[in-house]
Amino acid sequence: MSKIFAHRGFSGKYPENTMLAFQKAVEIGVDGIELDVHLTKDNELVIIHDEDVKRTTDGEGLVKDMTLEELKKLDASATFVGQYGVNPIPTLREYFELVKDTDIITNIELKTSVYEYHTIEKRTIDMIKEFGIEDKIIFSSFNHFTVKRCEEIAPEIKRGFLTGDWLVDFGKYTKERNVQCCHPWHVSLSQEVVDEMHAAGCEINTWTVNEYEDIERLSAMGVDCLIGNFPDRMIEKLR
Ligand code: G3P
Ligand code: MG
Repeated sequence: MSKIFAHRGFSGKYPENTMLAFQKAVEIGVDGIELDVHLTKDNELVIIHDEDVKRTTDGEGLVKDMTLEELKKLDASATFVGQYGVNPIPTLREYFELVKDTDIITNIELKTSVYEYHTIEKRTIDMIKEFGIEDKIIFSSFNHFTVKRCEEIAPEIKRGFLTGDWLVDFGKYTKERNVQCCHPWHVSLSQEVVDEMHAAGCEINTWTVNEYEDIERLSAMGVDCLIGNFPDRMIEKLR
């Protein structure tokens, strides 16, 4: 049966990438949580999707140009404004405190496609090691150089290549680069594509699976893990 991961936490119902969304995902019993990590001006690891804070908070500016203190003054509830009080941008450390004693798998997406955030891989891995949760992490990134840097620093931590493109032989591409997981956009998956990735020996973790019919279709194809905004729907369908 496909594993169930909450995308940006339980983001279909709560403000994305906030502690509230992560807590609610844990409460309903997901197998894992996907989240997005950027680096602040003062080199702190924070959880937010965009490079710019504008869409998800009540502020504006780039994460890379702001200190943690400045970012902490913002309310990251903009996707559900007024419904759940004030929800600050979480640090990765705050998130690890929440899940460190659970079985939750964390898919850390390093958001290095626009700004590479020199040192983000090392800083993230240092923190994972500090918490001793190496076996409960999957790294992913659309920047495949980032994924390879993670391998260089900590080959024991599982990693995946993200893609939103319709690639030929993505399983082969992934396996040949010593990466264990394919993280394709779910729309690009057919049975043939799924079988290619599995034949190459890859685990398939696909996103962003929100509709009931997609949950059924992808699960029936044997996809290993579905990452979606409504983990409640996946639990209802698959368990
Ligand atoms: O990691 C899966 C998915 O989150 C990738 O796209 O834009 O939602 O971070 P995005
Ligand atoms: Mg993401």
